[in-house]
Amino acid sequence: MSKKRVMWECSHCGHEQAKWTGSCVQCKSWNSFMEKLVLEQDKFVAKKHRSNSPVRLKDVQLQPFPRISTHLREFDRLLGGGVVPGALTLIGGEPGVGKSTLLMQVSEAYARAGLKVLYISGEESVDQTKLRAERLGIDHDNLFLLNETSFSEIKHHIDQCTPQVIIVDSIQILYKEEVLSSPGSVSQVRELAQEFMHIAKGYGITTFLIGHVTKSGEIAGPRVLEHIVDTVLDFEGDREQGLRILRSMKNRFGPTDDIALFQMQEKGLKEVENPSEALLSQRSHHVSGSVIVPSLEGIRSILIEIQALVTPTAYANPTRKSAGIDPNRLALLLAVLEKRVGYRLYNQDVFVAVAGGIRIIEPAIDLGIIIAIASSLTNQCLDPKTVVLGEVGLGGEVRNVSRIASRLQEAFSLGFARAIVPKKALAHIKEEKIALIGVNMVDEAIEAVFQKK
Ligand code: TYD
Ligand code: MG
Repeated sequence: MSKKRVMWECSHCGHEQAKWTGSCVQCKSWNSFMEKLVLEQDKFVAKKHRSNSPVRLKDVQLQPFPRISTHLREFDRLLGGGVVPGALTLIGGEPGVGKSTLLMQVSEAYARAGLKVLYISGEESVDQTKLRAERLGIDHDNLFLLNETSFSEIKHHIDQCTPQVIIVDSIQILYKEEVLSSPGSVSQVRELAQEFMHIAKGYGITTFLIGHVTKSGEIAGPRVLEHIVDTVLDFEGDREQGLRILRSMKNRFGPTDDIALFQMQEKGLKEVENPSEALLSQRSHHVSGSVIVPSLEGIRSILIEIQALVTPTAYANPTRKSAGIDPNRLALLLAVLEKRVGYRLYNQDVFVAVAGGIRIIEPAIDLGIIIAIASSLTNQCLDPKTVVLGEVGLGGEVRNVSRIASRLQEAFSLGFARAIVPKKALAHIKEEKIALIGVNMVDEAIEAVFQKK
């Protein structure tokens, strides 16, 4: 027996409660509660049939996942060697970053691999999608387009067309008639994702969902779906610069925290096989405030350029701005510079950016940021063949970083000759291809790269 019950759901964050209130206790937004009907199962009815029974761990037979690979090598590698049939993948990104372009190219790759692909575009008409395909030089008999936003209609067409791969562009524009709230709301998006999961698992159709996120990532969307889908990929990058990064945030069938790099060109996205080279291609030598750091992205290390600009402030409060690094981390490192090295930064504006629009979260770039700021403040350039590596603690101590050998190998292969590294790391490095300078404290590192002012 089941009965109907009325609940109230916040259309911003999805918080549910039994009564209507003016503002949401969770996300504090006003007038966001919408009525929602829920079917309540009787709790005391025991299930009669259970399909799964406990298995002893050692008796579980592992089968390797079958994979569908395409000629898009970086895309396949990111997914762990190709997509698993029946997997549900979410690709999130800001509007205009190139999600539709990427998935159109992916569609073609699957069509060429002999799979029937249905591209469901709710945002653009069939003509617009065709225009994009023409621009990308894509045309294949296995590729079908559908312009529809109603889920029941889409379900009907999926049954008729029997595709092996579906692309949903985008999940926020579709709606289910049974759900009362508007398209893009938390309940709509969540219900639709559940439906597409049933389609993916039930029929074994490989499914890609496109989801928009805004800069703050707050609007109802991808965040609420992350636990439903198998794989979450984030597509990011500077819209003005051509570089785009596809980052694997969650993957039930492969590695996470890995990235694939693409370059947006006239005719679509092109895979970047050597990321370090691409990221350093626009670097100008002999400019103060520029430091090269070997950073780890998943299993690969790539060389990134950190740029800092320090100028006297014109106002009472100095400006601190960062792109690609956490602003709180920047504030902490500035405090370390003031307290432990004795720099005066309270009357200076500080801007720090990672070149190429890439976002770095690992603390191993701390020392690089510090040196970049010191370089700009004292107007001294670094030797262009030096890389800097190390995490910085609150006491100004330089801490060890993970997988140092692979980072130094990448620096060596791109022609770097010298590395400033944490002193503790020296014990772990067996062969020295590049000259290593071990440092214990931040001020030692600054002295090692240039004369302190
Ligand atoms: P789009 O894939 O529509 O972005 P999204 O689906 O994430 O909103 O494309 C974004 C931008 O890419 C658009 O401004 C035009 C540009 N673009 C190219 O530079 N080259 C191309 O071949 C294509 C198709 C698009
Ligand atoms: Mg689009």
